[in-house]
Amino acid sequence: MKFFASVTCAAKLSLALWAATCTGAGAANAPTLESLTNDLRRAESVREVKNLQKTYAQLAFHGRWAGMAALFADDGILRWGQGKAGGPAAIERFLKTAAGDMDGISPGSLHALINDQPLITLSADGKTAKGRYHSIQMMGDGKGNSKIQGGLMENEYVLSTTSKGDVWRIKLLRYFPQYIGDYKKGWINVGNNSLPIVPYHYTAENAGTPILLPDSAKNKSSALAPLTFDELQYRVTRLNDEDEVRNLQHNFGHYVDRRMWPEVTDLYAPDGDVSNDGKIISPKDLLAGMGPSGLTRGILNEHPIFQMTVEISPDGLEATSRGLEIGMIGDYDAKTAEWRFVTFRNKYFKDPNTNIWKIKRSVLVPRLHASYAAGWANGGTLRANTAADPPPPFLDLLGRLSNASQRPQDWLPTWREENIANETVLHDLERRLKRSTAWDESENVSSAYGYYTDDVRCVAFATLHADKGFKESPGVGWYRTPERIAKACQNRYGEGTNNSVLRSSVPIHLRLQPVILVSQDGRSSTSRVRNLQIGTGRGTAARNFVGNNGFNGGMYHDQFVLEEKNGVSRRKLWSLVIDEFYWNSASWVGGWSSLNTTARKLKRRQAGIGGYIADLALTDPAMGPREIGFNGGPPPTVRWPNIQRMWWAYRNPVSGRVPDSYWPGCVPCQARPAWNLTANGYQEPATGPTLVNATANGLQVTATITGGPGEPVAGVVQLRRGNRGGNLVGEVVLKGSGSNTASFLVQLDSTYASGPTPLDVFFLGSDRLQPGKVRVVLNVPPPVR
Ligand SMILES: *[C@@H]1O[C@H](CO)[C@@H](O)[C@H](O)[C@H]1NC(C)=O
Ligand SMILES: *[C@@H]1O[C@H](CO)[C@@H](O)[C@H](O)[C@H]1NC(C)=O
Ligand SMILES: *[C@@H]1O[C@H](CO)[C@@H](O)[C@H](O)[C@H]1NC(C)=O
Ligand SMILES: *[C@@H]1O[C@H](CO)[C@@H](O)[C@H](O)[C@H]1NC(C)=O
Ligand SMILES: *[C@@H]1O[C@H](CO)[C@@H](O)[C@H](O)[C@H]1NC(C)=O
Ligand SMILES: *[C@@H]1O[C@H](CO)[C@@H](O)[C@H](O)[C@H]1NC(C)=O
Ligand SMILES: *[C@@H]1O[C@H](CO)[C@@H](O)[C@H](O)[C@H]1NC(C)=O
Ligand SMILES: *[C@@H]1O[C@H](CO)[C@@H](O)[C@H](O)[C@H]1NC(C)=O
Ligand SMILES: *[C@@H]1O[C@H](CO)[C@@H](O)[C@H](O)[C@H]1NC(C)=O
Repeated sequence: MKFFASVTCAAKLSLALWAATCTGAGAANAPTLESLTNDLRRAESVREVKNLQKTYAQLAFHGRWAGMAALFADDGILRWGQGKAGGPAAIERFLKTAAGDMDGISPGSLHALINDQPLITLSADGKTAKGRYHSIQMMGDGKGNSKIQGGLMENEYVLSTTSKGDVWRIKLLRYFPQYIGDYKKGWINVGNNSLPIVPYHYTAENAGTPILLPDSAKNKSSALAPLTFDELQYRVTRLNDEDEVRNLQHNFGHYVDRRMWPEVTDLYAPDGDVSNDGKIISPKDLLAGMGPSGLTRGILNEHPIFQMTVEISPDGLEATSRGLEIGMIGDYDAKTAEWRFVTFRNKYFKDPNTNIWKIKRSVLVPRLHASYAAGWANGGTLRANTAADPPPPFLDLLGRLSNASQRPQDWLPTWREENIANETVLHDLERRLKRSTAWDESENVSSAYGYYTDDVRCVAFATLHADKGFKESPGVGWYRTPERIAKACQNRYGEGTNNSVLRSSVPIHLRLQPVILVSQDGRSSTSRVRNLQIGTGRGTAARNFVGNNGFNGGMYHDQFVLEEKNGVSRRKLWSLVIDEFYWNSASWVGGWSSLNTTARKLKRRQAGIGGYIADLALTDPAMGPREIGFNGGPPPTVRWPNIQRMWWAYRNPVSGRVPDSYWPGCVPCQARPAWNLTANGYQEPATGPTLVNATANGLQVTATITGGPGEPVAGVVQLRRGNRGGNLVGEVVLKGSGSNTASFLVQLDSTYASGPTPLDVFFLGSDRLQPGKVRVVLNVPPPVR
């Protein structure tokens, strides 16, 4: 196995995190406070650039033109198709004029702007960035007029020095319109013309460039002064927490869509609740309002989440998320269908007992509900003043680079270690930072894949894969290695898509709402992303993916790795899987509730494309039940309005509950074990929380550690006493075979007072399992005289 020295060290660390085993390893690029400070700034910059664009879209929903304009640099420019405005004042006027009465302010109006699927590139000097986004607008004036338009954004950002410090601003917002229409007819290509490829600001070879620079690329003379260890630990912890909260909320959405009520309920704290349009209700009532548990024929309960931002509270114990949820719901058999535009602003807390994030309160602020048939042009069915209500407060996310030190005086890390080599501690901090950059790098490559797929760039999306990576060709099976992935695509679609070539239609694969589980060493990840497909074409047919055929839903299950080749690292796709379709619209006008299934005949494909045989067919018996029902999988094919089974690669992030349709690891790996991450020198990301259950009986503490099914528990279990993992009371090493129970006999000494004494049991984690923790209360008997 070829690991870099620092990687070997990180791997060791995760096994025996606090055993100080890393001395000497990777001495050449051992992290220092200075290197971590500069790395952290890059990681935080990428987050801030994303938050900037998401905030822009959130403000747009409420017609906050001045707020949007204030996100531009003083010399910032907005280019909207042929339109152009320079400087905040002109930009504000431009936005206001462009919206007209579809402003999100006037009663009954709607101004939903979706900016999602970010692909962010930070410059080497860390002072500028570029970003590609999908942009979709759904607008109405409440008086019968409506607009739908979409396209791509290729934006530029700049780190501006202001009186308040360094703040990321929009330097150039450049929108390339692709499709437009109104609610009644749906959309077609702008001008009913063929569409050029919107130039990419990146190449397939470079997508997946890690956010953190290699040592050789660092500019020592512009390095920032080092932050203290505590400050670094504080800020890295925030990034890690953001990832967990984002995964939690995105998962919430995925579970809601399938009406998995037990799984949704697990995500709430025991006293968690819901504020629904101002009324406080229980999660149970919220869910009951959406119908019984489980989907039955014809029920659509989609609530895709867009442009969510997450803010961790200064003390690190609470969090808030804010985003747009668009309900696309209905009952095919009853021929009902509805839109719901809802802003959510949810509260979370980190359970001090287990360190697991949970939902404390979901706050749902509906803006517009409308039947699919009537549409949103007339303002929908909610009380008229909803639109005028003040928007739920925006999050305070920008300017963090200068204002990082919100750290309260008494802030303590979840875990605080004394008496161990500093290098070990810094290596661990670096590992944790890289787990967060891995989240963004995975999203980056995921987005790049989406954009290349839209443009049918076979070689480019093949290049996004690792040398041993594999991709499902829909309806057929898996092709392994970039060369074979490209050839399978070319055989199927032709390679007629050079930059200069105009397309009459574009199949748009929105890749949204990622749940990204990163391995302990940050080198691999497992990801679930929603596939919301729309298409645009010249105004003709209702053929699938061409023209205004409305929305269609699928799900991706991917894995990513950090591939090292000739000393260069790139985040790459390891495994790409699409489960499709769960639901369809045959046309924009009919929507998801009046699909004419007779008219829609799926072509059955052979296990090879033009004689180019897949390395693993969807119908391979070794795939067991996994592909049954999907197009090209073993029969019977399940088509909307029937409900196809939905698979999960992970357990519930709070309770560890195993879903009914559970398929951990890479999807084809149960048939091809040699393709799995561990067989190729990568860690398999944890499938969920590691549950620690402990009981005290007299002075005996017994702890049981549980991972996922078939996941042996190897690692260190510690019993500790005092605030945030204070003094070590005892330690047991579980070997991974046999018992997953650790027993401790507490030896009382003069420092114990009689009465209830809280102790913490920690599982330190392993290559496969996440760290876990639980609090147990020991009843210390009165001293014997
Ligand atoms: C995304 O990809 C670009 C190259 O296409 C790369 O420069 C950048 O560092 C990547 N960003 C993230 C967040 O991974
Ligand atoms: C390195 O940083 C210094 C100070 O900011 C700057 O003057 C110099 O141009 C930078 N060098 C490179 C190669 O970017
Ligand atoms: C930093 O925080 C201070 C005090 O809360 C505030 O006045 C200032 O505007 C903040 N700076 C930035 C860049 O957000
Ligand atoms: C770690 O470094 C700090 C300052 O850099 C120093 O005060 C402390 O003694 C070091 N601890 C160990 C265990 O070496
Ligand atoms: C695509 O570009 C290549 C290289 O410029 C050229 O050889 C090829 O003919 C082009 N293909 C099409 C379909 O235009
Ligand atoms: C768009 O162009 C196509 C092909 O020329 C034509 O058939 C169609 O009627 C046009 N649609 C509209 C709305 O103009
Ligand atoms: C569905 O489509 C078929 C074929 O185009 C047509 O014969 C049939 O009448 C349609 N059914 C309905 C309910 O629209
Ligand atoms: C990966 O494959 C190897 C054999 O190649 C097997 O021993 C291992 O159990 C597999 N791991 C997982 C997580 O499936
Ligand atoms: C924890 O252990 C106790 C005692 O064995 C048992 O009663 C309880 O059900 C366990 N709880 C969980 C969540 O496994």
